[in-house]
Amino acid sequence: MAGTDTGSTGASGGRERPVVIVGASLGGAKAAEALREAGYRGGIVLIGEEHERPYERPPLSKGYLLGKTPREKIYVHPPQWYAEHDVTLRLGTAVAAIDPAGHTVTLADNGRVEYAKLLLTTGSVPRRLPVPGADQDGVLYLRRVEDSDRIKAALRPGARIAVIGAGWIGLEVAAAAREAGAEVTVLEALELPLLRVLGREVAQVFADLHREHGVDLRFGVKVAELTGEGGTVSGVKLADGTTVAADAVVVGIGIAPATGLAEAAGLEVDNGIRTDRHLRTSDPDVYAAGDVANAYHPLFDRHIRVEHWANALNQPQTAARALLGQPDAVYDRIPYFFTDQYDLGMEYVGYVEPDGYDQVVFRGDPATREFIAFWLSDGRVLAGMNVNVWDVTDPIRELVRSGRVVDVKELADPDVPLDAL
Ligand SMILES: Cc1cc2nc3c(=O)[nH]c(=O)nc-3n(C[C@H](O)[C@H](O)[C@H](O)COP(=O)(O)OP(=O)(O)OC[C@H]3O[C@@H](n4cnc5c(N)ncnc54)[C@H](O)[C@@H]3O)c2cc1C
Ligand SMILES: NC(=O)c1ccc[n+]([C@@H]2O[C@H](COP(=O)([O-])OP(=O)(O)OC[C@H]3O[C@@H](n4cnc5c(N)ncnc54)[C@H](O)[C@@H]3O)[C@@H](O)[C@H]2O)c1
Repeated sequence: MAGTDTGSTGASGGRERPVVIVGASLGGAKAAEALREAGYRGGIVLIGEEHERPYERPPLSKGYLLGKTPREKIYVHPPQWYAEHDVTLRLGTAVAAIDPAGHTVTLADNGRVEYAKLLLTTGSVPRRLPVPGADQDGVLYLRRVEDSDRIKAALRPGARIAVIGAGWIGLEVAAAAREAGAEVTVLEALELPLLRVLGREVAQVFADLHREHGVDLRFGVKVAELTGEGGTVSGVKLADGTTVAADAVVVGIGIAPATGLAEAAGLEVDNGIRTDRHLRTSDPDVYAAGDVANAYHPLFDRHIRVEHWANALNQPQTAARALLGQPDAVYDRIPYFFTDQYDLGMEYVGYVEPDGYDQVVFRGDPATREFIAFWLSDGRVLAGMNVNVWDVTDPIRELVRSGRVVDVKELADPDVPLDAL
């Protein structure tokens, strides 16, 4: 195995111990691919508790949920890819424990797999709604493909759908539900949708968008209880006594990184599995990538955990190269994400803490839904979001990376090319 200390012979009868990847989703599958692309010829075991081969989640709240993206389009690789690349894919298999000293993972069925290096791409799990009645039929979460199938079945014309949480899941499901002809009420604890990510100025754009599409948006609410009849949900009772009748309730109130295995194994965990810039955890033979990794980012000079597709797509390349012993494998990409809701498509590049900016500059009128928004601090661009404007993420990324002070008037002027700022 190139550049790694593979340790002693594995349990598999004389072969070197493999690289073991726990979590067979986008991050895990991309890591297997990156190991082969880097020329690694040893064993790769990709273990996932889901029964589906690795697939991407963004379509589950968009095209797939709307019935526009066929199921075969959601997968990361075609079924034969794993055998063709000599990747042992163990689906329907949960890892129950890691023994870092013994370089072994124990499976839920008590089987054991030894590893030379271990990569954790265990992702995240939806936060559960902590109120009475939340365990009834018709209360739906969205993480896996079967969740999307269940929600799709509920999105019938005229059905009353209550969505709890106006984050990414809540808004994308609300858009899909309206397109399917359902009546939608969104119940959000804060004063605006996506408030912690976008801030007040830009969050308002999403509130206006959904109102225009007939969504009943209610902000600053507290969900007290889910009402029901015969074990099936019938509505959402709020702390002010109001009840919103519902045939189904979709809950999207955020996720928690799946750190249980890492924590029990004694790895350093703090808002995710802490890693260095090489995505190496506090154990030198264990790496982490994707939603679960709270990785040191050299540009921001701090640890950040990113819950988005592009991060799960790209971090595994760094982790794979790093665990093969390549010292220049450093993850310093600037976070990127996107959404599609109704006829609004947007991309966001950059990183801003809630309240971490002092100015928002618009290039174009947000009311037209064709604009770029920039978040600044001390005259420097921290992030940019292009809405129905395309092919601008490269110059925006460059502006963010450079950290240079920009002329705000020029930033707002669509006639000044972004790469001239
Ligand atoms: C509905 C939906 C829509 C999204 N849309 C977008 C979007 O439009 N744009 C965007 O940027 N991001 C989007 N995201 C976020 C993006 O999908 C995630 O950031 C990405 O899936 C993270 O990938 P991951 O591989 O790190 O983790 P995950 O996708 O969470 O996968 C982790 C895998 O590990 C498995 N696992 C966990 N523990 C164990 C264990 N002990 N043993 C075995 N297996 C285990 C899990 O079952 C899971 O299959 C969306 C997410 C969802 C749910
Ligand atoms: N386009 C995208 O990038 C995209 C799309 C879908 C999902 N995702 C990812 O999926 C994950 C889950 O998304 P999400 O929307 O659940 O999380 P989120 O963190 O984006 O939003 C959660 C929302 O729920 C609200 N909330 C929390 N508790 C509440 C309560 N008790 N009552 C009412 N509102 C409450 C929060 O204020 C917040 O607005 C995230 O990691 C997200 O990044 C991303």
